[in-house]
Amino acid sequence: MLEQLPRPTIFAHRGASASAPENTIAAFELAIRQNADAIELDAKLCGDGNVVVFHDDTLDRTTDGVGSIKDLPLEALKELDAGSFFDEAFHGERIPTLSEVFEAVGQKTFINVELKNYSSLTDALPDRAAELVKKHAVSHRVLFSSFNPIALRRAKKLLPEVPVGLLTLPGYASKWIVSALGRWIPCQALHPPIKDASQHLIEQHHRRGYRVHVFVVNHPQEISCLYRWGVDGVFTSDPLLARRAIESEAAREASMT
Ligand code: G3P
Ligand code: MG
Repeated sequence: MLEQLPRPTIFAHRGASASAPENTIAAFELAIRQNADAIELDAKLCGDGNVVVFHDDTLDRTTDGVGSIKDLPLEALKELDAGSFFDEAFHGERIPTLSEVFEAVGQKTFINVELKNYSSLTDALPDRAAELVKKHAVSHRVLFSSFNPIALRRAKKLLPEVPVGLLTLPGYASKWIVSALGRWIPCQALHPPIKDASQHLIEQHHRRGYRVHVFVVNHPQEISCLYRWGVDGVFTSDPLLARRAIESEAAREASMT
């Protein structure tokens, strides 16, 4: 899958989340229309063990519900409005399941599934997500990522053909942490935050054979800079802005040769 991704890959972070409510089918479909190369989404288990696509632990910020998502069954979550917090034009948009996202866009784009089981590190999320990847025959289109190395190890065991990317916290992209975890998790990509990104870091990770995908980058100057440093991908809320920044940097480079 990774070999099919362009360099640099534009990952629409939670979908085209600058222009549509994050982690909804509307945001994923818009990302495709905006010509993003891939989408990123956040996956977690809800109360009855279904895999839902949602960022926060609680419903309060992005829906008209309250409380913890892990306490509610899918049926209750499906009643919530996950669009109006962003704009009334998206009223009625629902929290999607991972299955629904695979169904809607799984054959149209590449999908970075962030395994977001951070408060229950060894739950069945990797198992459930892997089952869905198989069921929808999207193993050639999915990249798993997580800050949770246990989840990545489990996903890799279940689906060896699906690449995994380790997300690193600010300040934790050090040589030691990455080399230690890199041996323990057979990851193919590293996902550092923009705060940690530098030409040195990217070159160091490249020497070790990793792709480097940086999150979250919404400023054209930062995208241009990452492009010059040879970044392999950026997570952005605004794929149109990212595309413009990359194209203008590529044109500038071409005019100098
Ligand atoms: O995958 C990159 C990024 O999504 C990680 O942070 O909190 O936006 O899921 P977060
Ligand atoms: Mg995420």
